[in-house]
Amino acid sequence: MGTRVAGVWSGFVWPRSSSGLGTVTAITWWGTSDESEQNMNVANWRVVLTGHSRGLGAALARALLARGISVLGLSRQALTGVPGQQAAQLTEVALDLSDVSAVEAWLASGRLGSWLAGAEHTLLVNNAGTVAPIGAAGGLQPGTSGQVGLGPLARAIALNVTTPLVLTDAFVAATRGRADRRVAHVSSGAARNPYPGWSTYCATKAALDMHARATQLDAVPGLRVASVAPGVIDTDMQADIRAASAADFPMHARFVAMKQDGQLTAADDAAQRLVAYFLSDAFGSDPTPDIRQVSV
Ligand SMILES: NC(=O)c1ccc[n+]([C@@H]2O[C@H](COP(=O)([O-])OP(=O)(O)OC[C@H]3O[C@@H](n4cnc5c(N)ncnc54)[C@H](OP(=O)(O)O)[C@@H]3O)[C@@H](O)[C@H]2O)c1
Repeated sequence: MGTRVAGVWSGFVWPRSSSGLGTVTAITWWGTSDESEQNMNVANWRVVLTGHSRGLGAALARALLARGISVLGLSRQALTGVPGQQAAQLTEVALDLSDVSAVEAWLASGRLGSWLAGAEHTLLVNNAGTVAPIGAAGGLQPGTSGQVGLGPLARAIALNVTTPLVLTDAFVAATRGRADRRVAHVSSGAARNPYPGWSTYCATKAALDMHARATQLDAVPGLRVASVAPGVIDTDMQADIRAASAADFPMHARFVAMKQDGQLTAADDAAQRLVAYFLSDAFGSDPTPDIRQVSV
């Protein structure tokens, strides 16, 4: 287990763990009967995960760490409550992923390539995202007149699309020559069905789906890519949706009812299924799967 170091580097927290390597060398997967996966050596996996501090991303981070897999988490806040023995597997960078200049500055540091160096299996999970701004066109940039910097609509596009595509390009470049490198975008049913009040969210998630489909056609050696709809999950994002007004989001009552009727999937349950799929041989055969329809 590596030595824990808490340091500040150019405004980013870096790193939390100096080695990032865990001690677990074999795992048993939940919900898969594939013998080769059950015996997979997790010490050779490294996973870059955006939005690892809360919600689905936090559950994904915990599920990966519990399997002994090293995680590089990129979020504005840190992940809390990591058990001591897993902390050495987690490296965190404090980064506003809606600030593309900051993302590019971090990539220019070369830290991504050095963290991925030597790993046999690598995975980038573009999970961070926002459903905001919610509402009809014409009211999505409130109070931005005279504001310095991007408004909410442009920031959402940067977080949901620009950064995932920029990170993907950097990740694929940094893993050149590797036989197993994977990119998973966390998509949404909103990529595939229009929702009133969610024009920005639908458009940005549809962009991730098309990015996965087109990238698959590039047939980059060793690269598998999929944009995965995760289901409806009980996270802060769902609370944000319920906090929106019915005027801005006409389907508001349906989402309130889903919470009241216990129809939301627990983040930990969604994460277990997603991780099993991300690490499976089936990953990437369908560029736009819905995890609820995937057998893992
Ligand atoms: N919940 C659902 O029902 C549902 C359904 C379909 C798809 N999804 C997708 O699943 C993914 C995760 O959603 P969630 O429900 O877990 O959302 P969430 O609870 O709101 O968590 C969002 C995560 O993204 C990070 N994030 C947000 N803005 C960021 C920024 N500017 N810079 C860096 N990190 C940022 C947050 O970390 P910090 O605040 O620490 O930065 C947090 O870790 C999203 O892509 C979402 O679209 C969710």
